[in-house]
Amino acid sequence: MSRPPRPRPGRQSGLKPRLRTAKGRKTASTRWLQRQLADSYVAEAKRKGFRSRAAFKLMQLDDRFRLFRRGGTVLDLGAAPGGWTQVAIARSGGQVVAVDLQPMDPLPGALCLVLDLEDEEAPGRLEAALPDGADVVLSDMAPRTTGHAATDRLRIAALADLAYDAARGMLRPGGAFVVKIFQGGAHHDLLGVLKKDFASVRHAKPDASRKESSEFYLVATGFRAAGGTASHSG
Ligand SMILES: C[S@@+](CC[C@H](N)C(=O)[O-])C[C@H]1O[C@@H](n2cnc3c(N)ncnc32)[C@H](O)[C@@H]1O
Repeated sequence: MSRPPRPRPGRQSGLKPRLRTAKGRKTASTRWLQRQLADSYVAEAKRKGFRSRAAFKLMQLDDRFRLFRRGGTVLDLGAAPGGWTQVAIARSGGQVVAVDLQPMDPLPGALCLVLDLEDEEAPGRLEAALPDGADVVLSDMAPRTTGHAATDRLRIAALADLAYDAARGMLRPGGAFVVKIFQGGAHHDLLGVLKKDFASVRHAKPDASRKESSEFYLVATGFRAAGGTASHSG
C-alpha cells in the first residue's frame, strides 16, 4: 500500500475569511470559527478525506522519526474521530487497533474499541486485542478540560502516564511510543522513565500543531525490553 501523498498546505493563504460577529455569538467562538476557516490543514484534511486535521501531525512526526514499519502492529489510544488511525493504516499496513472513550465510525483495516483507558478492564482488553504486542503505541488522548489550569495539567499528565502504562506492557523490543503532552504539565517523571526505557526520547511540535496550543509530543524510539537490547531499525 502506498503512503498518502505528503500534503503541502500553505499556512498563510493570504485570504483570511472575515466573519461578522453574530448577535449573541461569543467573540471566542467567532475567533474559533475564523481560525477553522483560515486553517489550511482543516481544508486539506477535508479534501484528502482525513477525519481530522490531526492526521497531518502524525504524518509529520512519522516523516521525521520513521515510526512505522511495513506490516507493523499499531495501538492508537484516544483515536476518535480517526485521523491518526487512517495514517497508521496507510503507513504500517499491519494490524491497527484504535481505542477511544467515544465510539468512532468503522475504518477498514482497524479494529475500533470503545474503551476508557482509566477503566480497570482496559489492560486486559488491550492484551486480548493484541496478544503479540505492538510495534508502535500512539496516544493523542486529551481529557476534557475543566478550565482550572492546575487540575487540567494534572489530568493531562495522568492520562499520559496511563498511556505509557499500557504501552509498556504491549511494546515489542525496538518499538516506538508517541504521547501528547502539554507545556507546563507534570510530565517530568514520565520523561525520566522513557529515557531509561528507550534508546531515544525527543520533544516534537509538528508544524500542523497550532502555534497557540501548548501541546507537543514526546517521541520515544528503540524500546528496550527488560534486560534486552533495542533492535528496531526504524
Ligand atoms: C485530540 S482527540 C484525538 C484525535 C485523533 N488522534 C485523530 O487523529 O482524529 C483526543 C481523544 O482522546 C479521547 N480520550 C480522552 N480520555 C480518554 C480515555 N480515558 N480513554 C480513551 N480515550 C480517551 C477523547 O475521547 C478524544 O477522542
